Order: sequence, then structure tokens, then C-alpha cells
Amino acid sequence: MKRFRQYRTTPETRDRYADVHIHAEDLIYPYFIVEGDNIKHEISSMKGVFHFSIDLLLTDIEDLLSLGINKILLFGVINDNKKDETGSPAYTPDNIISRAVIAIKNHYPQVVIFTDVCLCEYTSHGHCGLLHNHDVDNDSTLPLLAEMAYQHAIAGADFVAPSSMMDGQVEAIKRRLSEENLNTKILAYSAKYASAFYGPFRDAAGSAPSFGDRKSYQMDFCTSNQGLEETAADIEEGADWIMVKPAMAYLDIVQRASVLFPDYPLVTYQVSGEYSMLKSGAAQGFFDEARIFFESLTAMKRAGAKYIITYYAKDFIRQQQNSSI
Ligand code: PBG
Repeated sequence: MKRFRQYRTTPETRDRYADVHIHAEDLIYPYFIVEGDNIKHEISSMKGVFHFSIDLLLTDIEDLLSLGINKILLFGVINDNKKDETGSPAYTPDNIISRAVIAIKNHYPQVVIFTDVCLCEYTSHGHCGLLHNHDVDNDSTLPLLAEMAYQHAIAGADFVAPSSMMDGQVEAIKRRLSEENLNTKILAYSAKYASAFYGPFRDAAGSAPSFGDRKSYQMDFCTSNQGLEETAADIEEGADWIMVKPAMAYLDIVQRASVLFPDYPLVTYQVSGEYSMLKSGAAQGFFDEARIFFESLTAMKRAGAKYIITYYAKDFIRQQQNSSI
């Protein structure tokens, strides 16, 4: 009989054998930014997550930095009446994300800023690209994504993160950035699946498609190798970091990507639906909130993720500091 229980007798022994750890540097915290002043509104579908105007965002970042977290991912949320067919508020020079990036870098140059590059929060129809005959047109969308990435980059973003799942989006952005002599990096949403887990986000960002769904551009989860082929293509196109999204239901892809592409920092995204599912399950008393998040985030690291984007980042570090998990 091999004896395993000796590895588990006390917290200290368990600690000694634990080889998967999550540090504040591993976490990327998403923010939803709205127009206006003095706004901090909780998002009804995501308890504990807020819409921030830029002024209060700066205050919140102070809290984030005090916890040792220095990476953020920015999403812009604009009023429906500002949106148009081509998503132009996404890439005009005074777009909401560029303004936020400039303000953040002014106050906190040490923050590493990732910006989401996708049109769905800015188009009147809510799709991630330009429409032609009620279908999303790949190639005519690429220059707009490149322009959006360029605007974020000149504002001072460290990484642009294309998430619209248009073919060639990484290459189009990479080319544009290098033509402009910018060395902003690209975090590619490489294996991004058409997932029901994005439900709460679409409320948060006002980005639900007004007709149809995203299955013709986001990946089909009934495939097993395509996610890795997409990732390899993004690397070939010039991605610096790669991503698998969502996280918890896709840890097989995370694991395989980490083995296949060890030289590329691998990010996984615990998306809005994963977050709200765990939050609401805990609120209903089905399980302990701190423990369920600790277990889930640890599984992502164990699968091979180097970084995790999570709405729970601040709570997690706070709990770790109070050693309540
Ligand atoms: C933009 C985008 C989405 C998410 C990240 N970037 C929404 C979508 O693809 O529908 C989802 C993030 C989350 O659910 O937390 N395309």
C-alpha cells in the first residue's frame, strides 16, 4: 500500500506539497468604463462588478495597486444613441478607451494596460464587425480593428487585445502598429468560443447582437483541435501573448495550448458567466464563495495558464492576505 495521507495531515504539510500557486502578478482585472463623472454603478448581472466613469476608475485603481495587482483590461461602454453601423466611436481619436488610457497612465504609469479591440460595444447592431447583407464581413472589418488598436496604442496601451474573431485580425493590427513604429504588444483572444457564458457581459457592455448570434465568427465548442489551429495562426500573424476563453469549461484547450506553445504567455479568461454563476451559487448558500473561487482559479493555473483575467481578482487577493482560504 502506498501511503498518501501523510501529504495531507496538516495545513503546513499540504502547503509544503502544493505546487500550484496564484500570485497577484498573475491576475488581470477587467474594468467597464462609461462616459460621465462620478459614476460607480453595480452591474445587475455581475454582483461586485461596476461601471466606472474615468474619475472614479482612477480611485479604484489605487485600491487595486494596494493589493499588488497591476494589470487591467479595459472595455468601453457607450450609450445606444452614440452607436452606429460601423462602430465609429470605437476608433475616433477621442474614443472612451484612449481617454481612459491617457488618464490612467498620467496617474499610474506602472499599471499595465490591456485594451479590448472589438466593435460589438460600439455598433448599433451589436455584431463584432461590419455587416454586409446581414452577415459579418471579415476583410472590410480588419482596417477598422487596426485603426482602433492604433488609437489605443498611441494613447499608451501596453497591449491591445483583439477579440472580434475576424480571420487575420492579428496580422492587420501588427502591420498597422509596425508601420506606425509602435511596439505595443498583442494579446490575441486566440481560442475564443461562441459561449453562453458571456451572457452577463453582454448586459454589462450593452453588446448583445440585435439579431442572430456570433456562431459564424466565434469558435464552435464542438471542435477539439481548431482552438489550437487558431492559436498557431495567431502566433504566426505576430501575437505576443495568447488566450483561451472561457476558462473553466475549456481547461482541456488551456492545457494543450500550454504544452504546444510554451514560449507564449498563456492567458485564460474566467468570463462573466463563470463569475456570476459562482457568485450567485455562493449567495444562495450552495457553496462557500472564497473556496469555490480559489478552487476554480487554481484549476486554471494547474491546467497551464500563466495569467488569469478575472472579475474576482481583488477579492481573491484580499482573501489570500487575510488567509481566509
Ligand atoms: C467582445 C468581448 C466579449 C467578451 C470579451 N470581449 C463578449 C462577446 O464576445 O460576446 C466576454 C467577456 C465576459 O463574458 O466576461 N467581443
